[in-house]
Amino acid sequence: MKHNVKEILSQMTLEEKAGMCSGLDFWHLKGVERLGVPSIMVSDGPHGLRKQEAAGDHLGINESIKAVCFPPAVLSACSFDPELMEKFGDVIGCEAQAADVSVVLGPGVNIKRSPICGRNFEYFSEDPHLAGELAAAFIKGVQRHNVGTSIKHFAANNQETRRMTCSSDVDERTLREIYLPAFERAVKESQPATVMCSYNMINDTYSSDNDWLLNQVLRDEWGFQGAVISDWGAVNERVVGLAAGMDIEMPASGGITDAEIVTAVRNGSLDETVLDRAVERILTLIFRWTENREVRTLTLEADHDFARRVAEESMVLMKNDGVLPLKREEKVLFVGEFAEKPRYQGGGSSHINSFKVSDALSAAKRLGQVSYAKGFSGQEDVYDETLAAEAVAMAKQMDKVVVFAGLPDSFESEGYDRTHMELPGCQNRLIEELAQVNTNLTVVLHNGAPVTMPWLNQVSGLVEAYLGGQAGGEAVVNILYGVVNPSGKLAETFPKKLSDNPAYLNFGGKEHVAYKEGIFVGYRYYDAKEMEVLFPFGHGHSYTSFAYSDLKLERNTMTDGETLNISVDVENTGSVPGKETVQLYVSDKTGKVQRPLRELKAFAKVSLAPGERKTVTMTLDERSFAWYSTDLHDWYVCSGDYEIAVGASSRDLRLCGTVCYQSKRALPLRIGRNTTVGDLLENEKTRPLGQLVLNRMNAFFGAGASPDDSDDAISDEMGQAIAYSQPLRGLLGFGIMTAEELQAAIDKYTG
Ligand code: BGC
Repeated sequence: MKHNVKEILSQMTLEEKAGMCSGLDFWHLKGVERLGVPSIMVSDGPHGLRKQEAAGDHLGINESIKAVCFPPAVLSACSFDPELMEKFGDVIGCEAQAADVSVVLGPGVNIKRSPICGRNFEYFSEDPHLAGELAAAFIKGVQRHNVGTSIKHFAANNQETRRMTCSSDVDERTLREIYLPAFERAVKESQPATVMCSYNMINDTYSSDNDWLLNQVLRDEWGFQGAVISDWGAVNERVVGLAAGMDIEMPASGGITDAEIVTAVRNGSLDETVLDRAVERILTLIFRWTENREVRTLTLEADHDFARRVAEESMVLMKNDGVLPLKREEKVLFVGEFAEKPRYQGGGSSHINSFKVSDALSAAKRLGQVSYAKGFSGQEDVYDETLAAEAVAMAKQMDKVVVFAGLPDSFESEGYDRTHMELPGCQNRLIEELAQVNTNLTVVLHNGAPVTMPWLNQVSGLVEAYLGGQAGGEAVVNILYGVVNPSGKLAETFPKKLSDNPAYLNFGGKEHVAYKEGIFVGYRYYDAKEMEVLFPFGHGHSYTSFAYSDLKLERNTMTDGETLNISVDVENTGSVPGKETVQLYVSDKTGKVQRPLRELKAFAKVSLAPGERKTVTMTLDERSFAWYSTDLHDWYVCSGDYEIAVGASSRDLRLCGTVCYQSKRALPLRIGRNTTVGDLLENEKTRPLGQLVLNRMNAFFGAGASPDDSDDAISDEMGQAIAYSQPLRGLLGFGIMTAEELQAAIDKYTG
């Protein structure tokens, strides 16, 4: 039955309406029984269902139903595959229907500003384009089943330290170019049913109170149609928040804030239409779910297989000196407790109660000749002489050794940040000892974010398995043995050390966290600084090789409102089938404004049989070239040349071409007393005036005099630099410009 939301709203009392704006308990929205409005359930999210049937909490403490733990975002992002993410969403949507969950609390799209944010494992990337594409696809998949999503945490929630009270102090351009676009793309493309506002403040205003963020940007600019829900306990001032567009407070408020809303309406400080709009959005959310129930049962085994597939498509072969793939006839030693007890998910609200977990050791025994030495415990940093000696002795007898290393649970989790990027010292030590007795050594990593690798040059193979989900053990074994050809690419940079990270000096902190690195986040910084990194963004090997040829740009020119198709041929030049992710980066060569050296603007994953060649086509639009102008408060593309580079990673670019962009708009001119001569010369409109002033200056100060009488101390370059940096006000005293001329220029050019 289709419900008439407006009709129901008109029958509700003020108290009933205010009541709808906070949760019934930890996981339910309120209903109104007398009007046939049911209560619905929301659950974490995002990489599996954490449905709590008994005691609820938002920290992953109490038990939830048995479910499937899919790979967390840190791993699935490395698939670089929106199609797979949409299918992933589909599977989650079906599970939610079967489990009676109407909104899944995810995906998490916050940008990885620093490798040590405790929650990085729940987030996709350091790159907003990649995060946005993957989130949009995931949401589409879930919501196809009329199950809502809650894209989170909106916005600029990039650390766990003081997460509920700190202010992320970010300038407007950086917000628009780095921290908001993933949300923007997902909202515009997939209309998530809800957006979860974050705990933190942005520039001193709580996200839950933030009219600019919720009403102006999210709704008015991006066209968000759904409801805004608070992160659990994120509400600061309820009435202020409601007016700012924050519809549902979670969890329950004990009736306190409902009463505040009622009082505010009664005393006239809150317009009742604001409340009505919020309740209309909440009712729409509830009825979308209740009117579209699908009869489903949980298909746990099939979903486990899908979780394995996501992991197989995402794990990254970081290094391979020919040691991989392992051969079934080789004698292989697995070392490290993670081989039998994998670390496959992170701690906190996303923690899934997995119905089963596959470990690498059991999976490998079905494929090859594998022995096992524990070597070290996965959960503590204690070098155990006996375990280590046993592993080293066994390693000497083997064809190959695989060490299952990684971070213990206590090293990274929701709620706090790491203080360093190191693996436990006992693991580093044993890896080095093993490398000395067996050079055919591979390391498999289980971690939610980058670690340092002091032993990297001593190992022959490295697989970044990240947190692989409950089927990660099977996935990694399939990759190690070449049953699956790895195709994951890193969705983040691995810096050589923590202090290389651009946020290093301004991370954590107290009440205020200054985002001083601005737009130079992740590879945008490392590339601009020409800094060596351990592994670059987009990096990942395969057991085959790919050749790039024939880059074609549809046109060599482009203007506002147009799109540009770019195609490139990719050929599998090796002997096994494989998948390559073609990455396209745009570089602004106009030199008119400070930009990152290059930015990812498109990517495509292609599957190729040995010898096969395919043409991959990607499309750019105006936004792909734009930066955010705080003069215009809008996106803007400078006229001039842009380089389009295509390749296998951000530091393995194979082919490039150039397009000349002609913008139809100009940046606003602001002429004043402190405008410089150089500023006038730079702009087409004011150039004639600039030239006139420059000529007068040359005449007055005698530039262009013959070399004989020039002062050796004043080079032409210096003369020009000084002239160009001269503010107009300084010319009045010399009579080079009159006060009337200056005022006329201000009137003429400043709109
Ligand atoms: C987390 C959210 C989560 C919520 C409900 C909060 O602590 O920040 O991501 O969805 O709890 O568990």
